[in-house]
Amino acid sequence: MNASELELVARCANGFEAALAGELRAMGIRRVRPLRGSVAFLGTQRDAYRACLWSRVATRVQLVLARIPAADADQLYQGVVSFPWEKHVRDGATVAVQAHGTNAHLRNTQFTALKVKDGLCDRLRDVRGSRPDVDAKRSGFSVSVALHEQRATLCLNLSGESLHRRGYRQDGVQTEAPLKETLAAGILLVAGWDQLARQGGILVDPMCGSGTLAIEGALIAADVAPGLLRARWGFEGWVRHDRQLWQELLDEARQRKEAAAPRARILAGDLDPQVIEVARYNAERAGIGRHVQFFVDDAAHLSRHLRYAGDAPGLLVANPPYGVRLLSQSELPKVYASLGAAVRSLPEGWEVALITPDPGVDTALGRMPAQTIPCFNGPIETWVRVYSTDEGAQSIEVVTLGGVRREVPVADPSSVQFAKRLRKMAKERARWARGEHVSCYRVYDADLPDYALSVDLYRGAQRDAERRFAVVEERPRPKSVDAQRAGRHFADAVALVSAILEVPVADIVQKPWVSDALYARGDDAASRMACVEEDGYHIMGDLMGPVGRCLPLSQREVRRLVGSQAGGLRFANLFASANAATVAAAGAGARTTVTVDVSQERLAWLELALRENGLFSKAHRLARVDVLTWLTREANAHHAYDLMLCAPPLRLAAHGEHGRDWDLQRDLPTLLGLLAKVLAPEGSVILLLPNGFSFERKMALACGFFTDDYSDQMVPHDFRRAAGLGSCWHLSRSE
Ligand SMILES: C[S@@+](CC[C@H](N)C(=O)[O-])C[C@H]1O[C@@H](n2cnc3c(N)ncnc32)[C@H](O)[C@@H]1O
Repeated sequence: MNASELELVARCANGFEAALAGELRAMGIRRVRPLRGSVAFLGTQRDAYRACLWSRVATRVQLVLARIPAADADQLYQGVVSFPWEKHVRDGATVAVQAHGTNAHLRNTQFTALKVKDGLCDRLRDVRGSRPDVDAKRSGFSVSVALHEQRATLCLNLSGESLHRRGYRQDGVQTEAPLKETLAAGILLVAGWDQLARQGGILVDPMCGSGTLAIEGALIAADVAPGLLRARWGFEGWVRHDRQLWQELLDEARQRKEAAAPRARILAGDLDPQVIEVARYNAERAGIGRHVQFFVDDAAHLSRHLRYAGDAPGLLVANPPYGVRLLSQSELPKVYASLGAAVRSLPEGWEVALITPDPGVDTALGRMPAQTIPCFNGPIETWVRVYSTDEGAQSIEVVTLGGVRREVPVADPSSVQFAKRLRKMAKERARWARGEHVSCYRVYDADLPDYALSVDLYRGAQRDAERRFAVVEERPRPKSVDAQRAGRHFADAVALVSAILEVPVADIVQKPWVSDALYARGDDAASRMACVEEDGYHIMGDLMGPVGRCLPLSQREVRRLVGSQAGGLRFANLFASANAATVAAAGAGARTTVTVDVSQERLAWLELALRENGLFSKAHRLARVDVLTWLTREANAHHAYDLMLCAPPLRLAAHGEHGRDWDLQRDLPTLLGLLAKVLAPEGSVILLLPNGFSFERKMALACGFFTDDYSDQMVPHDFRRAAGLGSCWHLSRSE
């Protein structure tokens, strides 16, 4: 990094990092690094301004000012007060601070923001003799603090209020469920509209609402900088703001707008004449009204409006109602029928891109997406689905488990191999499961290297009785399969699972592989609660979360072992490996059970499951505390347990007042020592260790334990092929 270079970060919605990185590169910015929900880059002040003015996908552009130690409030304050804010904050500018992230001592983001604001204001008071005014809403200088473990990164928000506020939306007029402008632009870029526009292509949104997709499409086609209408910018409160440089960039953008002679055509329609009026108004305000043709009609009649399409390439893009905010679920089939009719009427070779949370739309269109991107539309977890005509036209014939022949549209005809394998395995496993009285099991486990995914089937219970759920989870992709192809295979797998196993798409939980940094679905992913059945018990859990949360299928034999031994015993489930193990012990007549975990969520689910199975009573305790603290307490109180299931994770962050952090490597000797203290003389511990962790028996011996390796016998039949299972040990007293 040379002296004139700035360290910058552009933020965007998760899923659009690649599109944003592409935009920055197209601006001539070289060192661009996509992260999750942002793209880091190095550039000049001109680059920073250009990103503010021209990025269509970025929601913010920030300048990294400093990274400071921030283990606690004092350290943070010291770091902030020592930073030369006077070199950055313009005299007279109001100040606002926003904080993100927490650590062991700074657990409240508002408090963190307050500390930073205090440090900044104190510094300016000392240097300038007066404190700046604070205005959280309309600041001239807005700072963001990102806390990560023991450090804080301080950034200046150069762009000001979120860049999705382009300034063309009619104030006070609210149509329902408008897309954010930055999201709309992201969808268009992902679908390749920028290239199509250059080729004189056609863009159609037949369900345009307030027109966001059409307007953003027109701004792209007409080479209009998305920031041109914005009146206020974050850098205005910055000492180094260079008015002349900014003016140059504005002039250049205006010239480009004047000079543009777009060949692309843009059509936007909606059933509702009122929203079309709003869309028309917005398009005028955006200065591209003349490039968009609006019409009021049902999408099913799109062909009427496409009569003069000729052989130009095109893209149909839509944000159909989801049945969540607009319309009720029952009206969705009508919407899909119209959308399906619109797509079928498109000239050959047209692309289609939709943003919708419902994969059922594929069936309505008769196409499989070539690309799917998980993202959020406001609070709703959804997908951008991009279909291309050439690949979508294929379908394969399959026979369902019920013996019915069906045509399934697929993106890759070689998915017929997957279909065959899936059907074969599903039949074999169903037979085995009936014999073993197993109701939730693995059907497919990356048997074909090109389809590196697993398929688990769950039998619903209670409110979900009569339903079956499938979880399709993608694995890390083999190097031989590129991301596009893997995406097609995953989408095909979901369609084939639905058809062959006869599970409605709505009951399939899809977990696409998320490359390490990009697109990782964190805790923000929506939950998918279901009630499922195992060995006659009802287990509640989140099928969307890590499988370990409620009913890890690979630990079925361990739960059965617990169930077969727990009768009359005092049972402890430590680290609540699975709620279902406690239910199995309680159901088998354990004298008492105690389940120890720091997660409120897991314990709440367990309580629900115990109640649901008629097992909730004082004999079954839930302890929200870290395991070492609990064991120490029990040892001091001379309590004893006959059977203990202990499934420590590799690492666990500290959970506030509920305990310290956990590190298996460091803490295992202490854990074993404490287990030895609370284990009854004839008792046993079942110890489940994570994959890759090597266990030294002599460590257990030192604590007075005999160890038996149970790993092999505890692997269920349906997990014989699975990689990544941990080990299982049986510990009993050696005397
Ligand atoms: C979610 S809104 C689109 C919002 C839009 N993307 C925006 O940013 O404002 C869905 C729109 O689809 C329209 N719509 C529903 N069924 C339709 C149909 N059969 N044909 C045309 N439009 C329809 C509704 O009137 C509504 O305006």
